[in-house]
Amino acid sequence: MTHSVPPIAQSNTLMIGDFSARTLIQRFGSPLYVMDEALIRSKMRLYKTAFSHPDFKTTITYAGKAFLTKAMVQITHQEGLSLDVVSLGELMTALSVNFPAERLVLHGNNKSIEELQAAIDANVGLLVLDNPDEFQRLIRLKPQHRIPVLLRVNPGIEAHTHDYIKTATPDSKFGMSLGDPATFDFLRELADHPLIDLQGLHCHIGSQIQSIDAYLETVNVLLDTLLSLSKEGLNLHTLNLGGGFGARYVDSDPILDLPQLLNQLAEAIFAGCRQRQLTLKRVILEPGRSIVAEAGTTLYTVGSIKTTITGKTYVMVDGSMADHLRTALYQAKYTALAAEKLDEPHDQLVTIAGKACESGDILIHQAKLPRLVEGDLIAVKSTGAYHYSMASNYNRLLKPAVVLVNGSTARVIVKRETIEDLLRNDEVIA
Ligand code: LLP
Repeated sequence: MTHSVPPIAQSNTLMIGDFSARTLIQRFGSPLYVMDEALIRSKMRLYKTAFSHPDFKTTITYAGKAFLTKAMVQITHQEGLSLDVVSLGELMTALSVNFPAERLVLHGNNKSIEELQAAIDANVGLLVLDNPDEFQRLIRLKPQHRIPVLLRVNPGIEAHTHDYIKTATPDSKFGMSLGDPATFDFLRELADHPLIDLQGLHCHIGSQIQSIDAYLETVNVLLDTLLSLSKEGLNLHTLNLGGGFGARYVDSDPILDLPQLLNQLAEAIFAGCRQRQLTLKRVILEPGRSIVAEAGTTLYTVGSIKTTITGKTYVMVDGSMADHLRTALYQAKYTALAAEKLDEPHDQLVTIAGKACESGDILIHQAKLPRLVEGDLIAVKSTGAYHYSMASNYNRLLKPAVVLVNGSTARVIVKRETIEDLLRNDEVIA
């Protein structure tokens, strides 16, 4: 479904592309995830341009876990990025719209036989092994061709981010620690195996990282590792540094100068290689959040408004933690706007709550909004990453539609769930 008659912009109204929030809700229903296509594409282009170097090939691999739908795969393909998939579902989403398999990277810390077989059959460009058990599972499948592999290692770097989204500390469940001699034994075993084409190392140090320091530290640790491996004749030529670059959710979040950061990173890799007399053929980055977060807005309609006897005001909306989990899970902070009262002072301190049966079902703990009434629209900004992809049917709530807006065009890229969708897989017992 495509709509293309833009309404006239008004200064008090939030516009996404040429569409007012109200028009989007009237046409597509509430609540609604809205993604700005132009912003997604410009972020992808920025990565491709800023992270390049004459001395090694650079690849930008979009991390699909942040937001993946068929349309998103198509955009990734059109922009010439590679794609990181982490499950059979993500892999099949990519293949269903003919994403070139050689640009797919399969991740996961416990890949199933089914996932490994699908990756072999599709001939994916890279498989990132996480542990020896997974390797045994892969080999038992007797692939008919050599599998291009990276090993996910854990450099023990402390990135300053939320505990749940840190991934490379020594006790992480992901990858193999560089402090463990068994990791090096495993690398040798992989390098010697006739069915494995071991190309290099992967690591991902965390998410929502706001400065370059942890990346620079990681580069040093990984290059030192490559150097010590090369001294024993094991030459690896590919590094995948994962994703993790931060996005802006609230005014107090720093503005990351991404082009400058990416440039600095590429130069640090180059300098680090030269210093150690190492040659790298390829460096891969896997950004997810930073490509889609700020392109997303969730629109909600205000329902009940309640002030407790303690004086706390709840503005309750027609969505919930089922479509907006990050506040409950990570104490993440967001910015809300009254989508049709932009010109009114946002000076009332309220809590935006959802409709789920759970006290922790809060979207924003301390939102500043104008005085609101039932039927008003609220826009929650920067919800493009890890929102739709982490949505659930808790309380048997239906997942909102996702609409892709580009200028005067608005297209549904994921239909709103229906009660039929919800009941489809249930079986009765009598
Ligand atoms: N590569 C690998 C191997 C990853 O595990 C991840 C994220 C990425 C790339 C992309 O990271 P990004 O650029 O999006 O930070 N649900 C959490 C984030 C979990 C990230 C998991 N891995 C959240 O909502 O904050």
